[in-house]
Amino acid sequence: MTDKPLLEITDLDVTYRDRSLLGFGGRTFHAVKGANLVIRAGETLGLVGESGSGKSSIANTVLGLVPASGGSIRFGDVDLAAMKTRYPPAVRSRIQAVFQDPYSSLNASMTVEAIVTEPLRVHTAMNRAERRDRAVELLKLVSLSEEHLTRHPHQFSGGQRQRIAIASALALQPKLIVLDEPVSALDVSTQNQIINLLYERREELGIAYLLIAHDLALVHHISDRIAVMYLGHIVEEGPSDRVYRAPAHPYTKALLDAVPLLDPAAQRRRRAARKIAPAQDATRVAETGCPYRNRCPSAMARCAQHMPPAYPVEGGGTASCFLLAPDTGGETPGEAA
Ligand SMILES: Nc1ncnc2c1ncn2[C@@H]1O[C@H](COP(=O)(O)OP(=O)(O)OP(=O)(O)O)[C@@H](O)[C@H]1O
Ligand SMILES: [Mg+2]
Repeated sequence: MTDKPLLEITDLDVTYRDRSLLGFGGRTFHAVKGANLVIRAGETLGLVGESGSGKSSIANTVLGLVPASGGSIRFGDVDLAAMKTRYPPAVRSRIQAVFQDPYSSLNASMTVEAIVTEPLRVHTAMNRAERRDRAVELLKLVSLSEEHLTRHPHQFSGGQRQRIAIASALALQPKLIVLDEPVSALDVSTQNQIINLLYERREELGIAYLLIAHDLALVHHISDRIAVMYLGHIVEEGPSDRVYRAPAHPYTKALLDAVPLLDPAAQRRRRAARKIAPAQDATRVAETGCPYRNRCPSAMARCAQHMPPAYPVEGGGTASCFLLAPDTGGETPGEAA
């Protein structure tokens, strides 16, 4: 690992037109607002948050699938956010992606050999025999073998399909793999196998990951840093252990509390104690103040007036919450809740 950022996202905005309004005049809303993230070479950044918080919007902007409406995404010497056309081959080969649904992301009519060697065919001068040899190597990296080359995606389980998708993503020895909920569609034991596989390959190959998940507990072991999103904002960021053990933002605390308990009675008690309000719709949130204030047990009057800046947190990272302000302005947390 080096200190130079591989990917540096600064003040990133992503806007969409509100889909719930039909016809003309639908207003635009921010799916991502002012996001700042850094990924260093060989590092894993876990990006977590509930559904609709804007995680895929960040991923898709990095991949060039969705345009940024503001800010920059520096990758090496280029600003990806400023690129209006498809990324040039030199960039595309260095950033790869693995998506959530292993059933729809692999072309059903292709053999595993064709899927895994496709990036080699497009981006390298390798001949067919060389590509096949490389495909065998790649399958070994994901604990599959040569005999799988001639099969089709439907002959594999969800976990195996995700292994094939990972093999294909590794083919060009990328610097960064964007993994958008790569294990969310899998059962728990398969989730752990895939996470372990990603961890091992990263250690060997020195790849960086942007790893998106709902569940902080699932990704904190493999992540060097964690960023937490809520309604388009990165509300907390920091070293993985610190965020997991000592979350600073009230939303991160609630997210960790929401990790399922094995005992349903304990879970009911905890829910009752916390009274977590239902999730909010990004398209309906006023764009001033803290996005979490309506659900926050510690909200103060000033939370409605200003977006809290990113305050440094003891142990590393930042959290955007006035509870961390050196001066609380004479307010008592919770009085506006
Ligand atoms: N193409 C689009 N057009 C309009 N609105 C969109 C579009 N894509 C996403 N959105 C909206 O933007 C917000 C953020 O969506 P995004 O998919 O980035 O969230 P997410 O954190 O990845 O959620 P999930 O965990 O469900 O995948 C949501 O309110 C979503 O409905
Ligand atoms: Mg998503």
